[in-house]
Amino acid sequence: VTDIAYEWRGAFTNDEVNALHAEAFEHGLLDDDWVAQVTSHSLGWVCARDGGGLVGFVNVPWDGGVHAFILDTIVARRAARRGIGTALVSIAATEAAAAGCEWLHVDFEDELRPFYFEACGFEPTNAGLIALR
Ligand SMILES: CC(C)(COP(=O)(O)OP(=O)(O)OC[C@H]1O[C@@H](n2cnc3c(N)ncnc32)[C@H](O)[C@@H]1OP(=O)(O)O)[C@@H](O)C(=O)NCCC(=O)NCCS
Repeated sequence: VTDIAYEWRGAFTNDEVNALHAEAFEHGLLDDDWVAQVTSHSLGWVCARDGGGLVGFVNVPWDGGVHAFILDTIVARRAARRGIGTALVSIAATEAAAAGCEWLHVDFEDELRPFYFEACGFEPTNAGLIALR
């Protein structure tokens, strides 16, 4: 998609990501401090913009060493199924590799298997999760 501008560690406002997150995960508007969150704890993040504003975001936390993670891959509904999600993850992988990471992890629900396995190229592996609250 040529009319989308992608930026690793691009500038964004909390309002922009809170709006996108609420739409993508179908919850009410929250007041999370995404800027503090990602600048304090993440290797980076990717922003996707079109003429109308922020249409995609992914957070890339890491362990400070060789492991990076994909969290909160989100694409605005108005821009869905145009390859933006795939491009966000691809940029995350390229930048994590450039930072010296050897592994990119993700977990997701069953319906997103085609997205992460087929479109983004993740290999299936065993993983585990404990709901802490
Ligand atoms: C998942 C998400 C980021 C995908 O973004 P996108 O830009 O629409 O995805 P792409 O256009 O790159 O999709 C590439 C391929 O992945 C698959 N895919 C994408 N979204 C999918 C979905 N919701 N369900 C099943 N397969 C999907 C399709 O095979 C798609 O190819 P196609 O459009 O030719 O059928 C977006 O649907 C979203 O924000 N979802 C809500 C939030 C969410 O659940 N995020 C993931 C958290 S782990």
